[in-house]
Amino acid sequence: MVTKIAPSVEQQAPTNAHLAHALNGDGAEATAVTGAARDHVWVHTLTWNEYEGGGLHVFDRGEGSTIWDVNGKAYLDGIAGLWVVNAGHGRAEIAEAMAKQASKLAYANAMNFTSTPTALLAEKLCDLAPGDLNRVFFSSGGSEAVETAVKIAKQVQAMRGFGRRYKIIARRRSYHGQTMGAMSLTHAKNEHWFGPFLYGVSHVPHPDKYRSDFGLEGEAADVMAARYVEQEIENQGPDTVAAVIGEPISTAAGVHVPSPVYWQMLREICTKHGVLLIADEVINGFGRTGTMFATEQFGFVPDIMTMAKGITSGYAPLAATVVAEHVYEVFKEQGTTPLGHLLTFGGHPVSCAAALKNIEIFEREELVQRGADTGAYLKSQLEELRAHPTVGDVRGVGMVYALDLVKNKETKAKLGKDSPFTKRLNALLMEYGLVTRVWDVMHLAPPLVMTRPEVDQMVDIVDRALTGAERECADEIEG
Ligand SMILES: Cc1ncc(COP(=O)(O)O)c(C=O)c1O
Repeated sequence: MVTKIAPSVEQQAPTNAHLAHALNGDGAEATAVTGAARDHVWVHTLTWNEYEGGGLHVFDRGEGSTIWDVNGKAYLDGIAGLWVVNAGHGRAEIAEAMAKQASKLAYANAMNFTSTPTALLAEKLCDLAPGDLNRVFFSSGGSEAVETAVKIAKQVQAMRGFGRRYKIIARRRSYHGQTMGAMSLTHAKNEHWFGPFLYGVSHVPHPDKYRSDFGLEGEAADVMAARYVEQEIENQGPDTVAAVIGEPISTAAGVHVPSPVYWQMLREICTKHGVLLIADEVINGFGRTGTMFATEQFGFVPDIMTMAKGITSGYAPLAATVVAEHVYEVFKEQGTTPLGHLLTFGGHPVSCAAALKNIEIFEREELVQRGADTGAYLKSQLEELRAHPTVGDVRGVGMVYALDLVKNKETKAKLGKDSPFTKRLNALLMEYGLVTRVWDVMHLAPPLVMTRPEVDQMVDIVDRALTGAERECADEIEG
């Protein structure tokens, strides 16, 4: 177990002058803001019992890897917002670039026109993206980027004369968003409330070396998962399948890093059957996995790639769906047909200015390499937590990790997100000053700028919170 003595997060004060001023604001304002949030903000997944039971937290400011709530309590941001704030909080440079763009041209009609920062960003993204990914459709968030990818895949197949190719193959446990089309690809969803979903979506086993669906270990488990995709294409009928979608390194599914052969096989299988391969890099992209895009680690180029989150490090909403030359080619050949898709805020100039500045910071500060180096250290520290009876596995790469929390290391039975243990663990993490999230697994994915002392502090909090929850909920632990 880790036994480092780390400075308490609460002891830290922001160095930025305006933050220090805000921190000293009076308590009445904090109470009023919290009241307004309780009465009027629909926090996306908070239950009413959580609102009432101390689960509502209102954050007010941030700097680097630390965020402060309205009461002035400091927390380490162990999940970079929601795998978003890759460049860290409080980057005044990005705010200034946005202000400059807003006062110059805040909006340009995205239907028939575009703007200077949008054009420059598109060019930059195509430079950064692998292979011949060379045409960018902008939107505002990851779900929209996924919807866009699916619409492009379907329309391109139809324009090429394959109108029956409408089916999409996704992976079990994958997450691709919550708008209706994206949710149809997301595996866990409530059919009773929201069904029926997009017709023609099927889900295949996920590459998972820890709990393989095939009872296999290591690369063999991933090879079998890839073969299953081909079998699914054949079962569905290859002439009915438009696309296969997957996160190169799945995150919400529990951070599984497949063997490179998995993606190389999927690339070959999709090409062989005329199926488009969509890589969802909404979380993976912009240095999260130790390279600019995770596809680089697996040696394949998708036909379509989605990006969001880290594209602006959260300073403005923005997403992108980037397609290969050969995908866009059909629109050049059939020169009078546009894509049947339009989003008013696609390529918003202020968001694009934020992204350009964010990427400039990435390059200047070598954030991808910095994240990879700190990530290697984080991983080594997290490995020590395997000494806990509840830590069954430690997985991840770059700056995206999961602790797989189990009742029993032999059977790998999960504690689960609704268990008293998990609830207590989440509460203790907040109490000790770490924002992260424990669902089936505990996620750790801090800003790429997190320092080693902050890593020590974060791992120390996780260690103490696990010890506390294990002691208080001992009856749930079998191993
Ligand atoms: C892989 C992946 N795709 C898509 C989305 C949806 O993004 P958004 O919440 O911005 O709509 C997410 C969100 O976490 C995601 O993890």
